[in-house]
Amino acid sequence: MDKSLLIVGVGFMGGSFALALRRGGFQGSIYGIDINSVTIDRAKELGVIDEGGTELSLTKRFSPDYVIFSSPVRTFRQIAGEIKGYIRRETVVTDLGSVKGKLVFDLEGILGGRFVGSHPIAGTEKSGVEHSFPELFENKKVVITPTERTEKGALDEVVKLWELTGGKVEFMDPMLHDWVFGAVSHLPHAVAFALIDALIEMSNEVDLFKYPGGGFKDFTRIAASDPVMWRDIFLENKDNILRAIDMYSNSLQKLRNLIEREEESALTEYLREAKQRRMSLE
Ligand code: NAI
Repeated sequence: MDKSLLIVGVGFMGGSFALALRRGGFQGSIYGIDINSVTIDRAKELGVIDEGGTELSLTKRFSPDYVIFSSPVRTFRQIAGEIKGYIRRETVVTDLGSVKGKLVFDLEGILGGRFVGSHPIAGTEKSGVEHSFPELFENKKVVITPTERTEKGALDEVVKLWELTGGKVEFMDPMLHDWVFGAVSHLPHAVAFALIDALIEMSNEVDLFKYPGGGFKDFTRIAASDPVMWRDIFLENKDNILRAIDMYSNSLQKLRNLIEREEESALTEYLREAKQRRMSLE
């Protein structure tokens, strides 16, 4: 494949996408645009991109066959509006943002049916291009969210790109995607951030962070994730997150009541069911 690709937002995910494509045999030029010039220099040094810069207008010179948005999700609309004037009619545009839903329809509204939403279910709490690595997507699910308007040719091209990275493609409705990942990904991140916040509040007398056990560290690893990225995800998937937080609060309240009333057998049952569900994931 010797077509060219432009990554907008050359961070951990965008960088890993570039490295994974190269590993999969992508031969064409890989360009990068990022608001941070240090990031662009670093990405070039690391061999993640061939050429890059900080201005979206460079897109015209790069003339890419593919564009992938890999900055925080709330930047996508503005980037799409601007880049539209710099790409060719046949350029295919995709993204790797954690939120789809209405955002997909808005981006389609700006770019037309050559926009194809995608979300790799792969990542870590690390950010920045220096942490990117080529195996990130190997055997990981990649959820692609076509709509009635999606062009078949564009969809096929995006599937091919993800297959080159080693990802396993699945299709899902964009709205359903946001409920599913609001529950299994966005809610756990919200809970981890909130748990740290609670311990800060409880640290008046004793600095509780001096005594982190293994469980606490495991549970809160994801609270070390990038704040701007997560702010954007929470705001962009607001309705689903609010619903998920409410349902989680109910479960926590149920647990609180069982403890308060010392309902031994019901408490054991609550914990047993949770343990069994968790173990079925292994
Ligand atoms: P990152 O912080 O490593 O990279 C984001 C990059 O975007 C940075 O280099 C930043 O300078 C750049 N950027 C910010 N605003 C920009 C703009 N307006 N124009 C151009 N560049 C801009 O973050 P990461 O982890 O790579 O996340 C990127 C995207 O990937 C997000 O949309 C996120 O939702 C999605 N994602 C992240 C996962 C993860 O585990 N980190 C997993 C799946 C998806």
